[in-house]
Amino acid sequence: MNAPTSPAASATAIDLAPFRTRRARLLERMQAAGGGVAILPTAPERARNRDTHYPYRHDSYFYYLSGFREPEAVVVLVAGAEPKQILFCREKNEEREIWDGYRYGPEAARETFGFDEAWTVGDLERRLPDYLADQPVLWSGLGYDNDWDAKVMLALNAVRANARSGVTPPHSVRDLRAELDEMRLIKDASELATMRRAAQISAAAHCRAMRAARPGRFEYELEAELLHAFRAAGSQYPAYPSIVASGANACVLHYVDNDHRMTDGELLLIDAGCELDGYASDITRSFPVNGQFSAAQREVYELVLAAQHAARAEIRPGAHWNQPHDAAVKVLAQGLLDLGLLKGSLDAVLEKGDYRRFYMHRTGHWLGMDVHDAGEYKLGGDWRALVEGMVLTVEPGCYIRPAADVPEAFWNIGVRIEDDAIVTADGCEFISEDVPKTVADIEALMRDGRHG
Ligand code: GLY
Ligand code: MN
Ligand code: MN
Repeated sequence: MNAPTSPAASATAIDLAPFRTRRARLLERMQAAGGGVAILPTAPERARNRDTHYPYRHDSYFYYLSGFREPEAVVVLVAGAEPKQILFCREKNEEREIWDGYRYGPEAARETFGFDEAWTVGDLERRLPDYLADQPVLWSGLGYDNDWDAKVMLALNAVRANARSGVTPPHSVRDLRAELDEMRLIKDASELATMRRAAQISAAAHCRAMRAARPGRFEYELEAELLHAFRAAGSQYPAYPSIVASGANACVLHYVDNDHRMTDGELLLIDAGCELDGYASDITRSFPVNGQFSAAQREVYELVLAAQHAARAEIRPGAHWNQPHDAAVKVLAQGLLDLGLLKGSLDAVLEKGDYRRFYMHRTGHWLGMDVHDAGEYKLGGDWRALVEGMVLTVEPGCYIRPAADVPEAFWNIGVRIEDDAIVTADGCEFISEDVPKTVADIEALMRDGRHG
């Protein structure tokens, strides 16, 4: 292959063996489920306004199987006694490459990414019916993109139209994403290594923002510190829009305006994580703008931290998905009773769900290529059991809005503490803890960071 320019250089820096292993595993799973052909496109490019596009981001499922980051590409996998792996991608085009940068073209892509065949994407429509002929099952993502669904149905109908010449079309269509969701749920060693690094970059970014916080600054100034740290460390994008929420804004769960001036005495909640080589991190820290917790802020903070410890203690293989949430809710509910913010018995508060006034979201979600990653949470109606290699967030919180029955000292305190956890053989590994979490450590970083 020619000496690549930068996009290709960064793609080939990634070990491509795991992608080949995943394709082989998917083919085995397809074969066990009746064989057939899988067709999987990457994400389309999307216009932001007139001729300006959103930054391009590949489709997660497509990338999981290919490692290929260019737009306009499709993977086709044919199961059976002689499985075949095919990539469709953009043609080489020296004129376009002068304007838009390097593209592999089928030949170099086939060799680099380890496919049996590669063709230009313009050939897709013509070739698909041949791949589908005499195959029992068509595997495709269903209902995510109308244009794509229509294209796949056209190919299916093209095979059906050939029935009189003795060709049999696939008789069943299966959801390819459901199959891939199960695979994506358990991360392999290369995924875990990337996720550890993504979490480290995000943790360093949170430290940087913590050091830069002070009364009088704007929330967006801290967002800028986060973005600087993400990109300077080589991550490609934020995994989701950063939340930098001071005071009352911290009680708005999806606050992303980030345009308020921070004032003395407020608490600040930052929920931000980078995406590195296709993998997300997701960290939240809450801390005082002025570097010193008030008594009420400290009480709420310690309560949420205790809830996180309780949740963490429930993460191990065999525990079911909801155990960490149940443990966090129990600690939070008791703490809210102790603070006088809820009334009654613990059992009644849990039973009636009164705690939801202050804790209205769940304690975590799967984390991977997507921040809210692929994978079912229940199997056959029951919470699924945790398995080594799964990755989840642990993110209890407490959000107290002004109200007549709440002492004023607690008004507008919004706390969430979120870390990323890998399920290990005998428990879990928190991979995002390189940013202070105890009251003492946060206050020390903010004190020393400012004067250092
Ligand atoms: N940052 C999104 C979430 O915490 O779920
Ligand atoms: Mn999260
Ligand atoms: Mn988050």
